[in-house]
Amino acid sequence: MAELAIAEKAEAFVDYLAAQERKGLLRFLTCGSVDDGKSTLIGRLLYDTKLIFEDQLAALERDSRRHGTTGEDIDLALLVDGLEAEREQGITIDVAYRFFTTDKRKFIVADTPGHEQYTRNMATGASTADVAVLLVDARHGVAVQTRRHAFIASLLGIRHAVLAVNKIDLVDFDQDRFEEIRADFECFAEGLKFDTLVSIPLSARYGHNVLGRSDSMPWYEGPTLVEHLETVQIEDRVGDQPFRMPVQWVNRPDLNFRGFSGTIASGAVHVGDSVASAVSGRTSTVARIVTMDGDLPEAGAGDAVTLTLADEIDVSRGDLLAAADARPDVADQFSAHLVWMSDVPLFPGRPYLIKIGAKSITASVTEIKHKIDVNSFEQLAAKELHLNEIGVVNVSLSAPVAFDPYERNRDTGAFIIIDRQTNATVGAGMIDFALRRATNIHWQALDVDKASRSALKGQKPAILWFTGLSGAGKSTVANLVEKRLHAMGRHTYVLDGDNVRHGLNRDLGFTDADRVENIRRVAEAAKLFVDAGLIVLVSFISPFRAERRMARDLVGADEFLEVFVDTPIDVCRTRDPKGLYAKADAGQIKNFTGVDSAYETPEHAEIRLDTVAATPEQMADEVIAELRTRGLIEV
Ligand code: ADX
Repeated sequence: MAELAIAEKAEAFVDYLAAQERKGLLRFLTCGSVDDGKSTLIGRLLYDTKLIFEDQLAALERDSRRHGTTGEDIDLALLVDGLEAEREQGITIDVAYRFFTTDKRKFIVADTPGHEQYTRNMATGASTADVAVLLVDARHGVAVQTRRHAFIASLLGIRHAVLAVNKIDLVDFDQDRFEEIRADFECFAEGLKFDTLVSIPLSARYGHNVLGRSDSMPWYEGPTLVEHLETVQIEDRVGDQPFRMPVQWVNRPDLNFRGFSGTIASGAVHVGDSVASAVSGRTSTVARIVTMDGDLPEAGAGDAVTLTLADEIDVSRGDLLAAADARPDVADQFSAHLVWMSDVPLFPGRPYLIKIGAKSITASVTEIKHKIDVNSFEQLAAKELHLNEIGVVNVSLSAPVAFDPYERNRDTGAFIIIDRQTNATVGAGMIDFALRRATNIHWQALDVDKASRSALKGQKPAILWFTGLSGAGKSTVANLVEKRLHAMGRHTYVLDGDNVRHGLNRDLGFTDADRVENIRRVAEAAKLFVDAGLIVLVSFISPFRAERRMARDLVGADEFLEVFVDTPIDVCRTRDPKGLYAKADAGQIKNFTGVDSAYETPEHAEIRLDTVAATPEQMADEVIAELRTRGLIEV
C-alpha cells in the first residue's frame, strides 16, 4: 500500500518534471539602485510562486527579526541577499541566479547589484538575459543609474525592457506620478533599441502587481509583472544563427582519436556537415558528434560535445569551428563598444589580455573614438575610460582572431578584458565590426636582418632599460655605461626621457595616459634600435609595470635587462637636480612622479642599483659586469 503511494508520487513527480521540461525558459535580470527594492522584488517573486519551503520560511522569520528593515513583517530581501556581509552592509554585491516557475514558464533571474561601482556584475548577468527589469523607486523616479543600466542592457543586446515603478504604495498609488515616471523613461529609451518596453506600477513589499493584480490601482489596465514575463515573446537568437563552436580543448586520448571539445555557441551541427577552422580557413566534414551519452546525429546551441573531423586539419584550443558556408570575420583589429569596470582607467596603448570565446590574446586599445554620456547619448572626447564609462574604441590584437559582430552573435561577438598584472576582469566589450587595416600591409622581408647587422658590429644587440624616480640617477649611470661600451668599441645609443620628449614625444605631457603612450613609443623605437644591431640604453621614469613588461615582450628574452635605479624619494628630493621636487611640493607641477603620480616598483629587475650605497662609477661597473655575465659583451 505504502509502496503504491510512493510509486504514485514518483510518477506524479516524473510528470511534473516532464511538464517543466516542456515549458519555455525566460532569463531576465533585475537592476536598480541600492534602495529600489530589487532583492525584495525577487524575494516576492519566489515567495508568491511558492518556491520557498517551510524550513526556509522559518529561518527567514528568524532572520527578519535579527537583520530586517521591515519591523515585524518578513523581510523578503533577506531571502535573496545570501551573503552575511552584504546583509550587514545593506547592499547586494554579487550576481546571483534564482530559479522559479509558474504554470506557463520557467524563469532564471540574475540578481545584479545596484551600487554604482558594480556595473561589472550587471554586465555579467545581462549577457545571457532576454529581459531587463529596471527598478525605480516611485518617490525618486528615474536615476542616472537607471539610465546607465538601461543603456548597458541595450548594448548587451537585451531587446525587452520592463520599467518596474516600485514602492507605488509610498506615493499613495498615484497614477499621475506613475505616468510622469513612465513618460520620462520612455522619452529617454527612444534612443535605445528595445523591441518592447512596458512600465508597471507595483509594490514588491506588499505584492501589488507582482504576481496578483492590485485592487489599489484600478486605473492600471496593463499586465502584472509576472503576467508580462509569462507572455513576452522572445526570439530564439542562438538557434537561428550559423554554427559556431569555440574549441575549449583538443581531446586526444590516443593516436586513434582526435576530437575537439566545446559548447556550441550558436546554430546546429550534423554529421557530414562541412565545417571550417575559422582563422586558418581549413575545412573538413564532421565525422562524429561524441557526447557522454554516446554519439549523436546532430547537436545544437548549448550542447557540450566533442567533434571529430574526417580530415587531419590543424585545430587548436581557442580556435573557432564554424559552418564552412557561413564563416565569421577574421581580423586583428576591430571597432567595439566597451564598458570599463576598473578603478584603474583604460589607457590606449597599454597591453591587456582579451578573451573572446575560448581564445585569450594580447591586445591594446589603439584609439578611444569617444565615450558616451549615458544621460544624453552625447559623444564626448576622451583620452582614457574610467570606472563605469562606456566608450567606442578601436582594438588591436597581437594575432588575427575569429568573431562575429555582437549584433549578430552575442557569444562570438563579446569579449572581456583582463589586466595582465592582476588577472582581474577590467572591461567587457561588444564587437561592432572588423577593421581592415594591417590586413593590406604585409611585413616587408629585408635581406639584411638583425643577425647580419649585429654580426657586422661584432656584438649582440640588447635593451638596457633604466627605470626609477626623477632624480634617481638613471641618466647619470646610463651615460657612464654608454661611455664605457663606446670605449670598448660597442655600438650604442641612449634614449633619454628628457631628450625624446623634445622630439618624437613632444606632444605628450605627464598624465597617466600620456606616460603610457610615451613608453609605448620609446619601447617601439628601442625595438627598432635592437633590430639595427645596437645596444640601446633607455632612461625613462617608466612608472608602470604594464608598460615595462610590454617593452620587455617586444624583444627576445635575452635581449632585455631591466635596471632599477633604486633611490628613495627622500634622497631624490634632497638631490633635486632640476628643482622639480620643490616646484611639485609647492603645487606648481601637477602629476609629479612620487608626489601626486604613482611609481610602481619593479618586481623582477635583472639589475638593482642602490644609489645611496654606491658611486655612479661603481654602478656602471656593476652593469658592465652583468652584461659580461650574460654574454652580451665578451670578457
Ligand atoms: S615617464 O614617466 O613618462 O617615463 P619621462 O622619463 O619621459 O617620464 O620624463 C621624466 C622627466 O620629465 C623627469 O626627469 C623630469 O625632468 C621631467 N618632468 C617634468 N614634469 C614631470 C612630472 N610631472 N613627473 C615626472 N617628471 C617630470
